[in-house]
Amino acid sequence: MNENGEPNILAFLCNWCSYAGADLAGVSRLQMPTNFRVIRVMCSSRVDPEIILYAFKKGIDGILVLGCHPGDCHYINGNYKTERRMIMLQKLLGQFGINPKRLKLGWVSASEGARFQEIISSFAREMEELGKLELPITEVS
Ligand code: FES
Repeated sequence: MNENGEPNILAFLCNWCSYAGADLAGVSRLQMPTNFRVIRVMCSSRVDPEIILYAFKKGIDGILVLGCHPGDCHYINGNYKTERRMIMLQKLLGQFGINPKRLKLGWVSASEGARFQEIISSFAREMEELGKLELPITEVS
């Protein structure tokens, strides 16, 4: 949670579609939550599961991974790999004591500013309902 009591949200956006969609939402002055930060990656498939676990460990309450729509990935099949990886990771999160809803995958194209706004807003509401992420003790000495 941030200093305003809002969940900390991290959004990984692929450079070619989702980042451009988020940018469009911004320049269109669409109303959006302010409690998310963006990390731009060249492709959604660049988001390593280890980074996601690290982010949760460092106090992030919810993570969005957004990429090009299936069939539109600029690296041919990167987003299909991302989808398989995220499904597997969501299953693993439960075993780490993390609600799998805290990780969400979605598709946003460069022309879908309104779609970006809708996804980030509904995710922020969901995270608000879930509250602060309390991690179980995972360190082994
Ligand atoms: Fe956008 Fe691969 S380039 S998901």
